[in-house]
Amino acid sequence: MSDPVLDLYQSRVYQAMSHPSTDPAVTAVAARLAGLDVPAPSAARFLEIGCAAGHNLLPLAVRWPESHFVGIDFSTSAIAEARETARLAGLSNVSFVETDLRTYEPGDGELFDFIIAHGVYSWVPADVRQSLLDLCAARLSPRGVALISYNTLPGWSLRKTLGGLTSQLSATQSVGGDPEEILAFLATAAGNHTPYARHLTTVLHEMLGKGGALLSFDDFGPVNEPCTFSDFTDHAGRSGLRYLGESQLVEDFPPSLAPEAAEILKPLAGNPLVMQQTIDVLTNRTFRRSLLCRADASLSGQVTAAGVLDFSVRSPHALERTAGGARLLNQAGKELARFEDPLAVAFFSALSATQSVPVGEVIGQMPDLLDPGRRLPRMVVDAARRGLVLLRDEPVRFDPSIPAFPNLGPLRLISARKGQPIVDLYHAPCQLDDRWQRIAAAMDGSRSVADLVVLAKTMGPNLDVQTWLGQLAARGMFAG
Ligand SMILES: C[S@@+](CC[C@H](N)C(=O)[O-])C[C@H]1O[C@@H](n2cnc3c(N)ncnc32)[C@H](O)[C@@H]1O
Repeated sequence: MSDPVLDLYQSRVYQAMSHPSTDPAVTAVAARLAGLDVPAPSAARFLEIGCAAGHNLLPLAVRWPESHFVGIDFSTSAIAEARETARLAGLSNVSFVETDLRTYEPGDGELFDFIIAHGVYSWVPADVRQSLLDLCAARLSPRGVALISYNTLPGWSLRKTLGGLTSQLSATQSVGGDPEEILAFLATAAGNHTPYARHLTTVLHEMLGKGGALLSFDDFGPVNEPCTFSDFTDHAGRSGLRYLGESQLVEDFPPSLAPEAAEILKPLAGNPLVMQQTIDVLTNRTFRRSLLCRADASLSGQVTAAGVLDFSVRSPHALERTAGGARLLNQAGKELARFEDPLAVAFFSALSATQSVPVGEVIGQMPDLLDPGRRLPRMVVDAARRGLVLLRDEPVRFDPSIPAFPNLGPLRLISARKGQPIVDLYHAPCQLDDRWQRIAAAMDGSRSVADLVVLAKTMGPNLDVQTWLGQLAARGMFAG
């Protein structure tokens, strides 16, 4: 019998990317704060289900040479490409298996500490969704954590309706047959004269922003079944799994909630699953990256104050001094928080935007008088839950200066040469346009910065190589 999902992924290339939200150094913090004593990712076993060509898994295999990685997918070409990339990058700690997840048989008794299934659950039929959760329940280690992403209701209901309407309109051929043309037509027709019209137009432009190639896998994929958070956690519960929280702490209580919501929602504190479902309705959430553990896992590993000091921290936001203390601004200049407490001011002043360092080390740079060891751990976790700081399980340190002979390292070079995004030390992809990609492809450590400037001149007058190299260096893109 034909399988439309398999047919799609066998016949077309899905341009998969790395997903910072799946970074196990980040999810380990959320899992630990939920009480699960998850193993350190630097010495763990990983399984990625629906790994495509390995863009998400391979940088993790480079980062943690002592860990073991398995990626599975039923796309023949994606698995062949993943294997070839691993071979060229000289990685021996990762293997890729071409298999349908329904029939995947790991080694006898093989268990995984981290399972990642990003972009799979909502895009496969019900029996595959069941097999996905069964695989997690059977193959998670006792202290292991699985990350499953999925489209959520009510946020996705409008998109789902738009998907159906686009097919109907396409069949009539009255406003064109191409889905992008139809979405643009609908956006024009919607206008922006009411709050609903503005919302609809925003959603249509978000869909258009994905581009036709991605839309055919995503919104217009052969299967797209969003579900409510409650349905997802019920399904997980029936399958022997337990919900822990979202992969990023800030997602448990998203900033799009009204500022007064924390106080108003307090009566729900004793029932976190109902709280989360309520939040989805209040925020019209469209997507979740949920963490699950085995139903029989022990959640007694409460993180102590000393444990928080071991987490690493950075703040991507700008700190601005005020008369009474300081305020934190995001990239768009929006004020996120104000501090008068000298401890908070000293803490945020000591944070780096680019390097993630242990909280204990940050304390070492703060005035003794503040006695940070006592109050700071709670303050750090609260700040992480509000998205003011980013926590991870281990530090990220690198030299942010431009090397004399820039070298991206084997994996990024392979990506650049294939025209794929290169991945930074925070697991974030960086898509390069054609010209930058050609310069990146030459950054194997054999050319000086001056050589790269000469190369750039052959591609046009307006490429500011120094600034670009500085941006890459600030993201830790160069091999140490
Ligand atoms: C939307 S893509 C997501 C790829 C990647 N995880 C990401 O998030 O960028 C879904 C992937 O799941 C794979 N897939 C779907 N159903 C599968 C199945 N039954 N068994 C194995 N792989 C499957 C597809 O081949 C495809 O590579």
